[in-house]
Formats: sequence, structure tokens, C-alpha cells
Amino acid sequence: MEQAELIWHNGEFVPWGDAKVHVLSHGLHYGTGVFEGIRCYETERGPAIFRHREHLERLGKSAELYYFELPHSTEELREATHELIRRNGLRSCYIRPLAFRGYGEMGLYAQSAPIETIIAVWPWGAYLGEESKKRGIRTKVSSWRTISGSSLIPHAKASGQYLNSILAKTESANAGYDEAILLDDHGCVSEGSGENIFVIRDGILCTPGHTSSILDGITRASVIQIARDLGYRVEERSIARSELYLADEAFLTGTAAELVPVRSVDDHELGEPGEITRVVQAKFEDALYGRAEEYLEWLDPIEVPAEADEPSKVSS
Ligand SMILES: Cc1ncc(COP(=O)(O)O)c(C=O)c1O
Repeated sequence: MEQAELIWHNGEFVPWGDAKVHVLSHGLHYGTGVFEGIRCYETERGPAIFRHREHLERLGKSAELYYFELPHSTEELREATHELIRRNGLRSCYIRPLAFRGYGEMGLYAQSAPIETIIAVWPWGAYLGEESKKRGIRTKVSSWRTISGSSLIPHAKASGQYLNSILAKTESANAGYDEAILLDDHGCVSEGSGENIFVIRDGILCTPGHTSSILDGITRASVIQIARDLGYRVEERSIARSELYLADEAFLTGTAAELVPVRSVDDHELGEPGEITRVVQAKFEDALYGRAEEYLEWLDPIEVPAEADEPSKVSS
């Protein structure tokens, strides 16, 4: 991965290589962490973070769902992120806030293990590759079912839960596919290993609803609004596996991947990205880069001092 100079760790800005934790940190052993994946874009109005508040609010909700008390307020985290991006001299980057149980107590009811908080930022291109956004990706339905609300909390973005995504992603990658699509407990379509999914049939965009063990994706919500504003019908409903094969178009959405067309599912060809995917994708990218007036409120601009108003220099 590309590195930046500084990481924010429990309120301090520390050199990248010095941001360390104890090997007996609780989160390392049991996955007791909650995190976010956020992006800052170099927009036409300067660097700006896409839907920053919504991401930080989701971090707070994930923490609450796992009985964590975050030591920092949303506003403190927001300001720390702005300052970190400024101090690292970045204009666009991926942003990873993480709160986890640290060192101090072992066992499963470790209420006295302190909550540590970090924010890291670094340059990271499109997760599934820049080309994937143009040409689409090949996907495979995973043999692993997505975590169910009866054993974990799909609505929380929690570290340990990602072992499920890692199993699915590894299986699909080892079989030569770009991404995995997971089904839920009932055999209906849930989501990708790190993205929500949309299927388009007869001009209607369909996406699994909240009872399908999905993460309540912020990109998903943005794309639903954009599609509706463009005049398309969007339905949140259960999607059968076969509807993936019969779809006219399909795409995945997520902060890391952005909006990625699906070219095939289990070797059933959907073909080149279709018209609705293209239109929604173009508007979504306009929103990310500050070119869509109607979505400017989704951007949290970072004030960059005039003397630092230069492209970043990043060591690797
Ligand atoms: C499992 C899972 N589903 C969906 C998403 C998409 O969420 P968002 O659009 O908020 O990044 C992500 C990414 O965070 C994810 O990890």
C-alpha cells in the first residue's frame, strides 16, 4: 500500500511507522473493532470528503451496536480527519477511521480494555481497478452465505464480521473471478463482499432491502436517490439468484469500489455496461467530483491553506 506521513492515534498525529499497538490488544484477538471506509476527492472546488457526516454517524452506530463508547465525538473525528489530510498534504485519499478494544483485559467481557481510535489516510485508487468501472467485472455467487442478523449484526461495520467477506472474496478470486456475490440465509441475493448490489430488469432498478443482511451502504443510498432524481423507478425488495442471470444490467456500489458494472454472474453474460448503469454512474461521479450542484451538500470540503495548495508528495 502507499503510505502517507502521519496517522492520527488517540488524539495525536504520529509518524506512519510509529502508529503501533500492543500484541495483546483485544481487537487483534477477537475482532472487536468498528471502522469506516471513506473517500476524499479532488473536486473542482478543492479536496472534499464524500458524505463524511453519514460515515461518521454510521461509525457511531456500529460502536453502539457492539456496546462500545467512542472516546471522541463525531465533530472531533471530523476535524481530526481534515487536519490529517492537510498535514499529509493529500488532495484525494481513502480514509480509514477505526475504533477497537485495546490492551488491558482479555476474555470476552473485557469492559475495561480501553477503546483506541485511529484515523489513517492514504492514496488508494478504485478498489476493483479503474478499468472495472468502464468495462464491468466478472462475478461469482459465493458458496458462503452472508452473516445473518441472528448471529451477528449486518448493519454494523465491525472488524470481526469481515472474516465472512474474506472467505467469499478469497473463494471468488481463487476461482478467477473479480468479486463474490453472497446470498442471505433464505437463498436470496444479499450483497458483494464489500459492496451493495443493484439488478436492473425492464427498466427498474432493484436492490435487496434491509432484511436481506446488507450493510446499509452510503453509496447505495446515494445511488438510490440519484436514480430516483433521474426519473428511474427503484425497488428495495428480495432478489432471487436467478434474477442475477436474467438481469438486463447489474452493478455494485461501495465507497472503495465506487459504482462498478457487473459483466457476468456465474459465467452468465450480461454484456457490456448498459445504458441505465452508464447514466447513473455518470451522475454519481459528477456528485463525487462536485460537478452536480444538486448534490454539493454531500461534500465536506477541506480548507487547504494557500501555500499547501499543491498536489501531494507521498512516500511509498
Ligand atoms: C459488506 C459491505 N457491503 C456494502 C458496502 C458498501 O457500503 P458503502 O457504500 O457505505 O461504502 C461495504 C463497504 O463499506 C461493505 O463492506
